[in-house]
Amino acid sequence: MEREIEIDCEKVVESERVRELCRRVEILEEQLMQSQRLSAVGELTSTTAHEFNNILMTIINYAKLGMRHIDKTSQKNAFDKILAAANRAAKVTGTILAAAKNRKQSFEPTNLITLVDDVMLLLEREMNKYKISVERYFPESVPDILADGNQIQQVLINLLVNARQSMSNGGQLVLKITYDEENEMLDLMIRDYGCGIDEAKLPYIFDRFYSTKSGPDETGKGGTGLGLAACRGIIEQHKGVIRVESKVGKGTAFTLRLPTVIRAKIIELREKENKDNAQKEISKN
Ligand SMILES: Nc1ncnc2c1ncn2[C@@H]1O[C@H](COP(=O)(O)OP(=O)(O)OP(=O)(O)O)[C@@H](O)[C@H]1O
Ligand SMILES: [Mg+2]
Repeated sequence: MEREIEIDCEKVVESERVRELCRRVEILEEQLMQSQRLSAVGELTSTTAHEFNNILMTIINYAKLGMRHIDKTSQKNAFDKILAAANRAAKVTGTILAAAKNRKQSFEPTNLITLVDDVMLLLEREMNKYKISVERYFPESVPDILADGNQIQQVLINLLVNARQSMSNGGQLVLKITYDEENEMLDLMIRDYGCGIDEAKLPYIFDRFYSTKSGPDETGKGGTGLGLAACRGIIEQHKGVIRVESKVGKGTAFTLRLPTVIRAKIIELREKENKDNAQKEISKN
């Protein structure tokens, strides 16, 4: 009898240890996802610094040009260029400040087109550097989605950096937004014409730590295998779906399907109803 009790005590201690380990793993996973988010913000910050340098060079050069050529047409041209560069600088700071503030999760009606354009503004330089041309097929206007803008930006950065990395010798990137009016959903497709993904590897790409990259590239990106895992987590929190289609040697297309505000509210109501019904069933029994 005494022996049995001893064994039971051991079991209790053992299962307590397992529980503690599970808790720690959970905390570590949470911290890792946090670092994935911060690396996306860091990405924006370093891009902004480069971007600013470029803008300043443009402003300085056109100011010098305007001072050298005193005729009205040249000066007006110089002022136009300076104003355009300064406006771009203001837009870049606006975007980075919006991304940096309000790190708490908050879902608000958000325009997907503006969100994508803001991210592209920040990644434009990087795409140019790697000789990647961007084609954009967006409707004039689309209904808002209910989203945490910062998180969707993080998803876009991860997908766009992956796409860029898949086209090491340059190429084409196609961005397409379509509005599925019947189902009140927006689809954003990000298609690259890069190396593509082997069919056998496709089921694993959203797994945490799954990466085929040997390490970070020369810009310090890639190789941790957390990018797509973070994307999926975020899109699911938005009651959306992320899908992938790929062919080796042809390229890859990721599609984000996100509910519009109307649809998101309906989903929310249904979920609440289901929860209430389940509660009622439990209290009946
Ligand atoms: N557009 C793409 N083209 C080709 N392969 C891709 C593409 N996107 C993802 N992959 C594959 O999926 C894997 C997982 O991508 P994920 O973004 O999660 O990790 P990673 O890019 O390797 O590292 P990081 O977490 O630093 O982004 C990549 O290593 C790559 O093999
Ligand atoms: Mg990645």
